[in-house]
Amino acid sequence: MVLELRLHSPAGAEPLIYSWPLLKSDGRDEAAEIVETIRWVCADFPELKLAVENYVLREFDQSSFDSMSKLCERYNRAIDGILQLWKGCAPPACINVPPSQELLRYIIQQVYSHSVKDPDKLNDYEPFSPEVYGETSFELIAQMIKEVPMSPNDLFIDLGSGVGQVVLQVAASGNVKECYGIEKAEIPAKYAEDMDREFRKWMRWFGKTHKPYKLEKGDFLTNKMREKIQSAGYVIIQSLQHLKPILVQLFCSVGWVCFICPKHNLVCALGDIYPTVRMGSSNTLFRVLRFFPRLFALDIRFFARPNKDLSHLSLHRLGGSCLD
Ligand SMILES: C[S@@+](CC[C@H](N)C(=O)[O-])C[C@H]1O[C@@H](n2cnc3c(N)ncnc32)[C@H](O)[C@@H]1O
Repeated sequence: MVLELRLHSPAGAEPLIYSWPLLKSDGRDEAAEIVETIRWVCADFPELKLAVENYVLREFDQSSFDSMSKLCERYNRAIDGILQLWKGCAPPACINVPPSQELLRYIIQQVYSHSVKDPDKLNDYEPFSPEVYGETSFELIAQMIKEVPMSPNDLFIDLGSGVGQVVLQVAASGNVKECYGIEKAEIPAKYAEDMDREFRKWMRWFGKTHKPYKLEKGDFLTNKMREKIQSAGYVIIQSLQHLKPILVQLFCSVGWVCFICPKHNLVCALGDIYPTVRMGSSNTLFRVLRFFPRLFALDIRFFARPNKDLSHLSLHRLGGSCLD
């Protein structure tokens, strides 16, 4: 007989199901995940917190099915009881709203670890090829969302969206109309399909909302993409191999363009395309900004690989006061 554990959704969605024995490898620890997920529900339902700490999570043995099963039953009874109280009323204030930043970070971590089973595969591509992989951290994107004014009429595009986590984060916390990511490499595009499915599942389970989004496999250097890029309010692009004159021209009509690279590289690349932009002086940035009044760059010392220290990342808003 297959043994399983179930966690009821605080929003009445399908339960989370864990097969026994619980996984503890490859960056996953399902017993810890069950406990942490229950604690996140308490952040939304403070009336549950005391019962969870004193009763649900009081004593349990991660290696015993009976003990973990009782823990899940105690949690299920507690959340079912609270939901019963809300029956026939409007949903609780924490349901059908966007997640907090902290919960969103937790959800994206779960989505990533459930979907990207072997992160090393993402680095299988040849160095310096357009498929070279690197991920933008949650913190960097959160900073971008905070600092760059977004509008609810705008489309956000991630050109070369990898496994799609940037698109998911902006869809859940950006003030935009919709989000779109396009990725041409086989391995990240395949993982993006799982990320998409898992993200929708976890957001439904917690009862959280997100903007419409789409993750697609394809090449952004095609004619079909021109119109889409031109209609975007925000475009984010990671590496400078993509900075072809044709794209740069397209970007002139986009609201905000964000490059994730060292600031110096950005200036050099733009200098190559526009010889009137001389490199090397602080003047250069002002000249660059004449071409791209709504350009900003996320400065990244080197691409952050999964599980590496991300503390070297910082954001440089190029533009700002001198142009406003
Ligand atoms: C450095 S990764 C960035 C992933 C993600 N945007 C992030 O910030 O975490 C750049 C991605 O762009 C993809 N890429 C490069 N050229 C592309 C093209 N012409 N069309 C679609 N994707 C492309 C690569 O395969 C790679 O996965």
